[in-house]
Amino acid sequence: MRNIRIGLLGCGTVGEEFAGLLLERRSAIEDVAGISLELVRVAVRDPGKPRSVALDPAVFTTNAYDVVKAEDVDLVVELIGGTSPAGELVTAALNAGKPVVTANKELVASAGPDLFAAADRAGVDLFFEAAAVAAVPLLRPVRESLLAEDVTRVAGIVNGTTNYMLTRMTADGLGFEEALAKAQELGYAEPDASADVEGADAASKIAILASLAFNRSVVADDVSREGITGLLAEDFELAARFGFDIKLLAVAERFTGPPDARGTIGAQVFPALISRDHPLASVRESFNAVFVTTSAAGELMFYGHGAGPRPSASAILGDVVGAAEHLARGTHRRVPVGRPAALRPT
Ligand code: NDP
Ligand code: HSE
Repeated sequence: MRNIRIGLLGCGTVGEEFAGLLLERRSAIEDVAGISLELVRVAVRDPGKPRSVALDPAVFTTNAYDVVKAEDVDLVVELIGGTSPAGELVTAALNAGKPVVTANKELVASAGPDLFAAADRAGVDLFFEAAAVAAVPLLRPVRESLLAEDVTRVAGIVNGTTNYMLTRMTADGLGFEEALAKAQELGYAEPDASADVEGADAASKIAILASLAFNRSVVADDVSREGITGLLAEDFELAARFGFDIKLLAVAERFTGPPDARGTIGAQVFPALISRDHPLASVRESFNAVFVTTSAAGELMFYGHGAGPRPSASAILGDVVGAAEHLARGTHRRVPVGRPAALRPT
């Protein structure tokens, strides 16, 4: 049985849950995939910090570059977050011919095309399923099953923190700060939660989805965005009075007409009034739901846990097993680097 040695960058909210799930599922993975996964090195800022997962203290280091370069590391999992040093570390791993799994939407939505090209040059996988809609298998269907489809629209709720907050503010009358504190406590929020409440996290996710769905390079800066920080108590009262809920939506569309707009892409994140009889109104707590509209398959809906350490760990582990299988077979799955999108002003 092939043994794949993993170097983990970051063992925080998501990283320690991933490490725990890996240990928990190790023998099942050996049974189903015929691959043994071993966590050999872990980079953190503070090796002395207590962790919820029991790991050999000898695996910890503060030098993430040592992990990436180590000869005994076959595959790198990046869970530090942010663009730097995560971007440099991911690039170094790919250039060293090591497959990378990351949950870092901010990085993929800003440097995706360069990273996809680096992975392709090296002939290794770069997987990032947990970067959008956490536990819900969405990126793989979009980049594999729907690869040859004509996707015209991707739209839905893609941020768990704000959906949880809006649910609690509507159902329990919680204030903004109290709802945010609870979302942070539950591990839904980004290390810098302003990314959630100001719509940047949702913008990164819809940029990633649009890139894969439309085969065009769309970055987070291409997405116009408004978060939930400007909502007032009166907005919630009025919405309820007329039978609506407020949801933070992310929408990306590829326009098919009129001729001057054909092929252009529009992407935006904004708080919207959703009628209580619309399916999106039933998406509550930290759940997410995304509708994908295609010419042949019609409308598809993807639904499930959109945030939280354990659901995210599930997606990361799925990617690790997929990348490990490819590594064992000497193959990889390419992410197409689409031409830059022609943007439609919003
Ligand atoms: P945390 O801040 O909780 O953890 C970051 C980890 O990285 C910590 O272990 C920290 O070390 C380590 N670290 C930071 N800087 C360095 C460095 N320079 N060298 C080595 N180690 C370093 O982040 P999260 O776990 O919340 O998020 C990780 C990623 O997961 C982000 O990209 C996030 O967007 C993504 N994500 C989060 C989801 C969620 O539901 N929360 C869902 C999907 C994706 P130390 O512990 O010593 O401080
Ligand atoms: N902070 C993110 C969210 C985590 O709340 O959706 C999952 O990507």
